[in-house]
Amino acid sequence: MNIGFIGTGSMGSILIESFIQTGALSPEVIIASNRTSGKIDRLAEQFNGLVKANSNIEVVQLSQVIFLCIKPSEFKNVISEIQPYVKPSHIIISITSPITIAFLEDQLSSKIAKIIPSITNYVMSGPTLCIFGERMLQEDILQIENLMSFISEPIRVSEKFTRISSDISSCGPAFFSLILLKFIRAAVDETGIPYSDANRLACEMLLGTGKLLTTGGFTPGELQKRVSVPGGITAEGLKLLDLKLDGVFNQLIHITHAKFEEDMAKVNG
Ligand SMILES: NC(=O)c1ccc[n+]([C@@H]2O[C@H](COP(=O)([O-])OP(=O)(O)OC[C@H]3O[C@@H](n4cnc5c(N)ncnc54)[C@H](OP(=O)(O)O)[C@@H]3O)[C@@H](O)[C@H]2O)c1
Repeated sequence: MNIGFIGTGSMGSILIESFIQTGALSPEVIIASNRTSGKIDRLAEQFNGLVKANSNIEVVQLSQVIFLCIKPSEFKNVISEIQPYVKPSHIIISITSPITIAFLEDQLSSKIAKIIPSITNYVMSGPTLCIFGERMLQEDILQIENLMSFISEPIRVSEKFTRISSDISSCGPAFFSLILLKFIRAAVDETGIPYSDANRLACEMLLGTGKLLTTGGFTPGELQKRVSVPGGITAEGLKLLDLKLDGVFNQLIHITHAKFEEDMAKVNG
């Protein structure tokens, strides 16, 4: 079965590279197009056999499953371009959160899914959010989840929680990297520890914490209790963070949701 990619920017190329590196797909079954040719040429050079399509229409004609890895503002153009060539047997997958399943089902005769990846999938880790339209058969769902499981933990979510789920899984790596960087910079400023040492310690700490919270049997609350003793050093630090971060993530969610509404209005309005 051929798998198509329309758009090979940051996310499209991460998906292609990860699928090939894990052996989920061989380059020969990948048909890809991009608005400008530089990015697709690089992928074709890197992965012998990957098919560089001459147009988005050619991707649709040569593939059974097609990932739309374009920005929300490009959807209307691309959908109207490919619409006449999309068949009911195709599976069209959007990777962007503001594009609704209802919009795509209205525009295209195919089966529809929304799969929101995360940059963590680049290292075959982290979640992908899966939302399936009504035309998807059980076997189609299993096939797509199986494909995503090569590079991630596929997690089904309700479409009404797409935004908040994406905030956590797709924006989260950036949010937590910012927090980590502030921690590292403060360590350097306050103590003079070399940046590279602090950075290495912090990144290894985050990796280990992630493992404890996924396969290590800890919840975030249990982990805090386990590390801190009342009146101890960690407990003092936790008190400060609890105070200072109170309400910050509520504000963050308000901001991401407001931006999402703005994008939705642009795309669907
Ligand atoms: N970045 C993340 O971590 C992340 C995570 C989850 C979901 N997403 C979603 O993924 C989508 C893509 O994000 P991205 O970061 O990959 O953006 P990006 O790097 O800008 O990639 C978009 C690609 O689409 C191409 N393109 C634009 N119009 C096209 C057209 N008409 N036909 C064919 N190709 C076209 C662009 O080509 P050019 O080379 O000509 O610009 C570009 O390479 C966004 O909607 C985003 O919300 C991103």
